[in-house]
Amino acid sequence: MTYKATYQSSISDPVSFWKEKSELIAWYKKPSTILSKNQDGLDCWYADGELNTSYLALDYHIEQGRGAQTALIYDSPATNSVQQYSYTELRDKVAFFAGALDALGVSKGDRVVLYMPMIPEAVIAMLACARIGAVHSVVFGGFAASELAVRIDDATPKVIISASCGIEVSKVIEYKPLLDQAIELATHKPHSCVIVQRPQAICSLVEHRDFDWQDIMAIATAKDPVPVLATDPLYILYTSGTTGKPKGVVRDNGGHAVAMRYSMEWVYGVKPGDVYWAASDVGWVVGHSYIVYAPLITGCTSILYEGKPVKTPDAGAFWRVCSDHGVKVLFSAPTAFRAIRKEDPDAKLMQQYDLSKLERLFLAGERLDPPTYEWLKQKTGLPVIDHWWQTETGWAIACNPIGEALMPVKPGSATMPTVGFNVQVLNSHGKPAEPNEQGSVVVKLPLPPGCLPTVWNDTPRFKSSYLDTFDGYYLSGDGGYFDEEGYLFIMGRTDDVINVAGHRLSTGEMEEVVGSHEAIAECAVFGVADPLKGQVPIGLVLLKDGVDVDDDELEQELIQLVRDRIGPLACFQRAMIVERLPKTRSGKILRKTIRQIADGEEYTVPSTIDDPSILTDLEDRFSHLGMS
Ligand code: COA
Ligand code: AMP
Repeated sequence: MTYKATYQSSISDPVSFWKEKSELIAWYKKPSTILSKNQDGLDCWYADGELNTSYLALDYHIEQGRGAQTALIYDSPATNSVQQYSYTELRDKVAFFAGALDALGVSKGDRVVLYMPMIPEAVIAMLACARIGAVHSVVFGGFAASELAVRIDDATPKVIISASCGIEVSKVIEYKPLLDQAIELATHKPHSCVIVQRPQAICSLVEHRDFDWQDIMAIATAKDPVPVLATDPLYILYTSGTTGKPKGVVRDNGGHAVAMRYSMEWVYGVKPGDVYWAASDVGWVVGHSYIVYAPLITGCTSILYEGKPVKTPDAGAFWRVCSDHGVKVLFSAPTAFRAIRKEDPDAKLMQQYDLSKLERLFLAGERLDPPTYEWLKQKTGLPVIDHWWQTETGWAIACNPIGEALMPVKPGSATMPTVGFNVQVLNSHGKPAEPNEQGSVVVKLPLPPGCLPTVWNDTPRFKSSYLDTFDGYYLSGDGGYFDEEGYLFIMGRTDDVINVAGHRLSTGEMEEVVGSHEAIAECAVFGVADPLKGQVPIGLVLLKDGVDVDDDELEQELIQLVRDRIGPLACFQRAMIVERLPKTRSGKILRKTIRQIADGEEYTVPSTIDDPSILTDLEDRFSHLGMS
């Protein structure tokens, strides 16, 4: 089959297409209903199927004779160690930790929050939750205590699993004080916490609440996987929206398992036994899908890397890992390769390693900018494949499928829609855009298996955020266009979300934090182009009348406030005091225009602007600072 034929069959008859693909996984009870509506009128896949995702990722392979194969390689330049787990070893650890969770009173449907660095216990805990039908919610380690608290209140976990510390390059980041503070801040209190004590920073445990991972593992009994419905939630993963309250993206078990298994061969060209490395973090969707679930459900060897692309110890780190473990496919974010290129522009360090097993590279998380694409292609001589996806979809919405013949690459394009995703571009009137005309990128319903069925505990928000703007379509929040050959170009968010070093952040949320400072009357936070991180946030702040502050001191206080409330990953490093903010006559801040001025882009003065002279003032301010 060619791409076009496969794609067309998935769009014209999704039920037959996904019925056939459901055969890729070992169900306890095969679904007889493929696509149906739930009680909220929302699409759901495989409603009467029964399975267990932990069984598929572990026990199934042991039954197929792969028990001795390496399932997980933990490669940690942060601790100078490498550990390997066979499928049998990993299954045993998961089964015992599932038993430990059970002993702590966690049962099917209960939530478990994970606040973990990139250590094997994170993967074990995720799979242990899946084994007993509990719903995990992993919170990225770079988030501050208050962000963790918001997620604890929304997910209401019975148990939280964490570690005493994470290690960032050579800095030890103590997680336990952040966890304690988050529990203090949250209204909901977990019954228990399980803490992995790492030798780099042993922490104190709260009596009757906190348990040492090793202690509870020592007395646990192994638990077998329990059957769950395809539509039962596997996990919740919070992602930034336009407000301070993150959205709890729900992932179900059945559609997810099918999409993960299918995508490994069709999108990535990977088969059981292959070594696959997603250089991301388990706190992000890429980590969930392609460090943990898809490679393990497929019977691959997955790499868990606790390090950075640079400085651990150098810009050859990625090539070293590929060489040491015989990686076939590497998946990372463009920002990681920009960091490598900056430190090693001629890729000299790459020459030290045997990359003969490496067949291709996949990039996502932000647009793959053509210079980074060209550099990577030239230096590696391998196919470099951009693909576009989101936390919400869980897998690629557009890609260049290796499972079919690879299509010619157009730098800057994520190529074509993935099977099952009926991607369209609509203009502001909700009509299909012409080729090369930019508009809102949407997906005609139904979304394929693996995509979010709803927002945790908030179906009205799911509908208003994603489904209400264009009737019958899922709103991606990204803008872009198709060219005349059907290649899709994703050009950036159409909402207040920015992408900093592959991390998705809400400028609206940063505005809430900055605006909470006692000196600030009003503010606008927007993302400006950054050569390394893609975008970084900048704040324009208006002082309350009569406030007299030192500009630099205020800036430092605001930077610290964002670090404390959101986390260091926000990279908020600049705040400028201004006299006025450009607004429409109805009072809406013109963020897009501010960003265009800061980036030195051509812009049209919006017809609704209240006072156009503010824009000229801003141009002066930005050029004075060396921006624009
Ligand atoms: N736990 C605690 N703190 C963390 C953290 C974690 N898991 N991850 C990042 N941080 C902190 C960093 O220590 C840093 O703190 P600092 O301001 O005190 O130095 C801050 O958050 C910003 O970190 P980062 O964005 O990683 O910037 P950097 O300059 O250290 O590194 C890159 C830049 C490009 C090398 C790095 O961002 C990177 O590897 N990006 C790839 C991202 C990625 O894979 N995304 C997944 C999408 S596929
Ligand atoms: P996240 O939910 O954190 O994975 O971020 C998803 C967002 O990242 C998308 O909505 C896009 O804005 C951006 N993104 C991810 N991959 C790509 C890509 N290949 N090209 C362009 N933008 C991308």
